[in-house]
Amino acid sequence: MDDNIPSWKQNLNREGGYWNDGRWYDIHLERRMPQAIPMLEELAMALPPLPPGTVVGDLACGTGNASATILDAYPQVQVVLLDEDQDQLSIAHEKIGQFTRDVEPLRVTVPTDGEPLPGGPYDVVVASLALHAIVGHDVDPAAAESHYELLFRSIHEPLRPGGHCFVGDHVGTLDLYSQLKAMERAGFTDVDCAWRQDDFFVAGGRKSA
Ligand SMILES: C[S@@+](CC[C@H](N)C(=O)[O-])C[C@H]1O[C@@H](n2cnc3c(N)ncnc32)[C@H](O)[C@@H]1O
Repeated sequence: MDDNIPSWKQNLNREGGYWNDGRWYDIHLERRMPQAIPMLEELAMALPPLPPGTVVGDLACGTGNASATILDAYPQVQVVLLDEDQDQLSIAHEKIGQFTRDVEPLRVTVPTDGEPLPGGPYDVVVASLALHAIVGHDVDPAAAESHYELLFRSIHEPLRPGGHCFVGDHVGTLDLYSQLKAMERAGFTDVDCAWRQDDFFVAGGRKSA
């Protein structure tokens, strides 16, 4: 008997589950958060055509679902996986390794003080279910607006001129309109929303060429 196995009752709470456990996350995502699957597909469909060698940063990659969806569409891109959790990063690395060898895992805690993301320069940065996780759920809207703006500055800085940022997420920490405005304040142009269903959305913006 393994004392480290947690109680199954955590699964039965209304907001329960083991979202920090990568294996649990992957087998429960579609059942517990059904809109996350079309969100990932819409994120891939929102991309401009990506030539071979395009460098894609997957911010707070978790188990690598956004990268896997993008690689399915564009198998010749290079991927940089960024996450602070070694277990999630290992699952992502293994998953993405089935698509390509052009993958670099970076264990990093992304700050919300505007410091540039490591691992660049990037042509594309994707943030899937990532920004709300970095900013956290328990911040008031004014603080959330400034955290999001600083995060978008962190993403903007290492983008090559003409590079893009795509966000797939749910609202909750910050409403979508405020996220789009934070992107603009951080320097992005061509900011828009590609898809929205209930509280889930895909949005994007571009660094001036
Ligand atoms: C909800 S998961 C999203 C995973 C993945 N992007 C997806 O679409 O399935 C959030 C991830 O953010 C990571 N994370 C949270 N705060 C972070 C931070 N400050 N820096 C780096 N990673 C962070 C967590 O380790 C977790 O893997």
